[in-house]
Amino acid sequence: IDSLQTWRGISPKAPNPTPRVFMAICTVGPWLQLLMGAAVVVGRTTDALHRIRSLLADVEANAKELFEAGSLDAAAARGLTDALAGAERKLAKETSSEGQELYFMSRILRGTIYQQAFGFDDEEVATRDAYTLSNARFWEDYYNSTDLAAFDWYGSWDTEAAWLEDRTTAQLGAVLQRYLRPSAAILVLGCGRSDLSERMYRAGYQNITNIDISSSLLQRLESRLGPSLPGMSWKWMNVSAMSADSSSFDVVMEKGTYDSLQENPGLLQAAFAETFRVLRGGGLLISITDTPRDRRLEQLRPERWQGCVSHSGKIDTMTGRKDLFVHVCRKPTSTGVLNWLWRRLFPSPWAVSREL
Ligand SMILES: C[S@@+](CC[C@H](N)C(=O)[O-])C[C@H]1O[C@@H](n2cnc3c(N)ncnc32)[C@H](O)[C@@H]1O
Repeated sequence: IDSLQTWRGISPKAPNPTPRVFMAICTVGPWLQLLMGAAVVVGRTTDALHRIRSLLADVEANAKELFEAGSLDAAAARGLTDALAGAERKLAKETSSEGQELYFMSRILRGTIYQQAFGFDDEEVATRDAYTLSNARFWEDYYNSTDLAAFDWYGSWDTEAAWLEDRTTAQLGAVLQRYLRPSAAILVLGCGRSDLSERMYRAGYQNITNIDISSSLLQRLESRLGPSLPGMSWKWMNVSAMSADSSSFDVVMEKGTYDSLQENPGLLQAAFAETFRVLRGGGLLISITDTPRDRRLEQLRPERWQGCVSHSGKIDTMTGRKDLFVHVCRKPTSTGVLNWLWRRLFPSPWAVSREL
């Protein structure tokens, strides 16, 4: 359920109905559901989809409450997943894009309950016709069945956030720019349908390689954006086993991709190790996430980063203010004894992890 919460901080500017569907399922409380319900155009299909959307929101809220109270046991999980399976039988016949979105969402929700209640891994969940966010098949099926309109987790380059360190409101891009040089070779992990790379390109950062686990998504992005964005590339790669050369990027950036691997610690740790490997010495990891600093630093510990700086902010979403973090970690310029000596002779701001 934790992973599902990550759908919550979606850019308020998101233009298509897709994110709204996800947000509705994952975020709105019952009173807001009622409010939204009043605005729904009444029609048979719309009504049916609306009822299913409410059901998914209720199941999600129940599962979260039970999980957090440590009472998501087998009986409770069966009750919730049976309700979802019933909804999916109806959704399987739906051809509208909203129906398709709900169908995927229900199966992600059901899969996450299996994970939380029974400790199932990605494959065990998949045998029950459900999905987990760390399952590559989910993303391929999802992108194959939904449209390509831009959709951002947590927001994009121009998303306004209230930053706690200096009590100012500034766009996410303004924070990222502090760490980017126009000539930097930038690797974007799990680009998805976000328009962050495109906006960075237009802001002058044009050496960008986007990778994702969904080949159909990448093909569609490349044919749509490739001709107008020379220098930008899209490659199929698994972030946990990248085919990129070691020390080949100045910056590795990710938004929500590590979060989608959160329930699969093996894949997550491999992704951190691979990020460290492909960065050159002195290069930066920029992680945009709702995972707080302490938890992310704990996850990053094995790689011996020189230090990390974290920016904490709040973004406004349809369902209220949400946390947004930008964690920036620097890879040491040299390794072993030389690094140790260098760091003692020339302490840099990065030598000590600090929070801005
Ligand atoms: C939560 S979405 C975030 C998408 C985008 N970065 C954004 O901010 O909207 C996670 C993305 O990571 C991709 N992904 C998931 N697992 C991956 C893996 N092992 N390797 C590469 N990409 C992966 C998914 O296909 C999806 O596009």
